[in-house]
Amino acid sequence: MSSTSQTVKAGGGRLAALTAWIDARFPMTKLWKEQVSEYYAPKNMNFWYFFGSLAMLVLVIQILTGIFLTMNYKPSAAEAFGSVEYIMRDVNWGWLIRYMHSTGASAFFIVVYLHMFRGLLYGSYQKPRELLWIFGMLIYFALMGEAFFGYLLPWGNMSYWGAQVIVSLFGAIPYVGDSLMEWIRGDFYISDVTLNRFFALHVVALPIALIFLVIAHLMALHEVGSNNPDGVEIKKVKGPDGIPLDGIAFHPYYTVKDIVGVGVFLIAFCLIIFYAPTMGGYFLERANFEPANALQTPPHIAPVWYFTPFYAILRSVPSKPMGAALMGIAVLLFVFLPWLDRGKVKSIRYRGPIFKFFIIAFAISFLALGYLGTQPATPTYTTAARVFAVVYFAFFLLMPWYTSIDKTKPVPTRVTYHAH
Ligand code: HEM
Repeated sequence: MSSTSQTVKAGGGRLAALTAWIDARFPMTKLWKEQVSEYYAPKNMNFWYFFGSLAMLVLVIQILTGIFLTMNYKPSAAEAFGSVEYIMRDVNWGWLIRYMHSTGASAFFIVVYLHMFRGLLYGSYQKPRELLWIFGMLIYFALMGEAFFGYLLPWGNMSYWGAQVIVSLFGAIPYVGDSLMEWIRGDFYISDVTLNRFFALHVVALPIALIFLVIAHLMALHEVGSNNPDGVEIKKVKGPDGIPLDGIAFHPYYTVKDIVGVGVFLIAFCLIIFYAPTMGGYFLERANFEPANALQTPPHIAPVWYFTPFYAILRSVPSKPMGAALMGIAVLLFVFLPWLDRGKVKSIRYRGPIFKFFIIAFAISFLALGYLGTQPATPTYTTAARVFAVVYFAFFLLMPWYTSIDKTKPVPTRVTYHAH
């Protein structure tokens, strides 16, 4: 035997021995098999299934860049704005870390919105995935909190006034509103105290919550198994070995496929970071390049794009308490989808024309509200926002009716798959 193959064998032997040593003390190989190499996913998953792994990638990017930002950021009203400028100009590679983090925030929402929309397209929230969906919604709420708290940290003028607007919404709650606002801010106005607690929530509390929720989300997913573009339960047709006939091992098949998604995502992500980090004011708003000024509001206060669909609903209602309530309901309605949908089929491929009409109308209204929320509330825009808000709510509230009367197509027993 040559000396090279002897070395390889000895190396392999040592690795096997180490694996056995760990396995006797920790279920490493067991977990790897259960969750990865022997987790059987439907063989027909398409590009819509990239966004879950991309969301995990963005979470990792945000946590890592966040740790490095925290090393030079100062969470105080006197120093916060200056410390971000210092990171941008003086810290080695600080600009890259900061732009990765600010672009990552928007990328997170793009990826998560597409991930959720996939759920709507393929009925992934339906039985038996209701709890998986609810964990997803809890992640979404945590993500909204994370983005809101993080936005105050650079202590720019939009940070300040954006927080002012959102916190004042709680003031619309009867009886307890004023005390609640004071409790959230920890002061009578948005101050150093507010900045400090938002910092604690943004860098410690919510990231921990997010990590635990993502673990719960994946555990629920692996318990029930992935849905797929046909909405067929692959576990119903198994081979003699107990493996679903339409299932393929997550590793290597989907690990390799997901890498393609990661490649495309990273190209787009890098192009934005290097060539358009503010994205024309959509990812980093212009007013936030000026320090917070309690005496001067920005010319036009608007949240970052990912909140604007809901902000447009808020503004379209003349009464503030009613607007705040409708905005809250607009977000909460997603939680109830598993019970609002009475359809007998999961996937859009086998749904009838009425569902298709409503889901297209919903997607258009969500995008339109998103755009309107970034614009000044002129009378024409407000009327448009009202129309789209009605369509938005109709999608959810009429769902029990239209999904039960819609003419669906027969669903095949096996998934449909055409090799590329
Ligand atoms: C940090 C955010 C999130 C991460 C890291 C994440 C991660 C994942 C991953 C890795 C998968 C499997 C791959 C895939 O189906 O794309 C998945 C599936 C799923 N996620 Fe998420 N997710 C997140 C947020 C959400 C949200 C906000 C929702 C909706 C409320 C959601 C609902 C679902 C559903 C229903 C599935 C199963 C889809 C199917 O099998 O068709 N997730 N998630």
